[in-house]
Amino acid sequence: MAAAAITMNINTNRTTMGETLRIAVQSKGRLNEDTMRLLEETGIRISTSKRTLLVAASNFPLEILFLRDDDIPGTVADGTADIGVVGLNELEEQGVDAEIVEKLGFGACRLSIAVPKQMEYKDITSLQGRRIATSYPTILRRYLKQRGVQADIHVISGSVEISTGIGLADAIFDIVSSGSTLVSNNLREEDVVLSSEAVLIAHRGLSEEKRGVMEELLFRIRAVMGAANKKYVLMNAPRESLDVILNVLPGIKSPTVMPLAQEGWCSIHTVLDEKCFWKIIGRLKEAGAQGILVLPIESMIL
Ligand code: PRP
Ligand code: ZN
Repeated sequence: MAAAAITMNINTNRTTMGETLRIAVQSKGRLNEDTMRLLEETGIRISTSKRTLLVAASNFPLEILFLRDDDIPGTVADGTADIGVVGLNELEEQGVDAEIVEKLGFGACRLSIAVPKQMEYKDITSLQGRRIATSYPTILRRYLKQRGVQADIHVISGSVEISTGIGLADAIFDIVSSGSTLVSNNLREEDVVLSSEAVLIAHRGLSEEKRGVMEELLFRIRAVMGAANKKYVLMNAPRESLDVILNVLPGIKSPTVMPLAQEGWCSIHTVLDEKCFWKIIGRLKEAGAQGILVLPIESMIL
């Protein structure tokens, strides 16, 4: 019996998906946590206790290859990994050929020119003949060239924000997310050159079978993203308030309305954007809604 059950399990996983898909994920740094959370929310179980370079998921044909972010685009381009999660900034900088499959909605940041607070800056031509420190020389070089500006690019791999303070450069070109690094280094953001976020990329030459596994993963990712910031909202209301309440609710489709055991009362269920919910809650209560419940949604398939 036990043996049969095991065979069944293996079969359900393997008949449609024979091959294991290898995904490259940042081993540490800004995208690691969100990427691992997203995978977890798709229901894929990954043992994170042993943090080896390569970890297999236990219930989906996926293995995770943990890499430095700079190594991810190249690894996917050459097929060592089939897919990967990486910042658009890193992908653009490396200029390698990989397919952008999906924007993932986290890891938002921008690549910007920043200058010391006291420096006068009109536009990028103000940096003509100056020194700019960056870890993104390719994108910077392209930007300067497009604008006919010649500057001295100093490539450093980290702590770019301190380079003006120590006299290494006159300006920097770096990642800005919250902006707090700039503030604490007395820098001012000027030109935003590239807006970035985490993207799922894929090797161009994926086999039919691996593409199938990726589609299955993508289906789950989209369902999770679709549910992000959405809440399932239930409330009770007197029947006579129903019209007013339905007018206030912007739900996805029309809400579900069910009679309650108590005469003249009903229960209303709908899916709302979390932000929108806080805006309209006052009006719902005014209209007579009671016992309002707000529940999280794990995934949503439209
Ligand atoms: C980037 C960038 C800044 C910081 C900006 O570094 O180099 O230091 O993030 O973020 P903030 O606007 O929210 O302050 P990152 O953390 O990616 O590390 P790294 O420079 O060592 O790659
Ligand atoms: Zn980095």
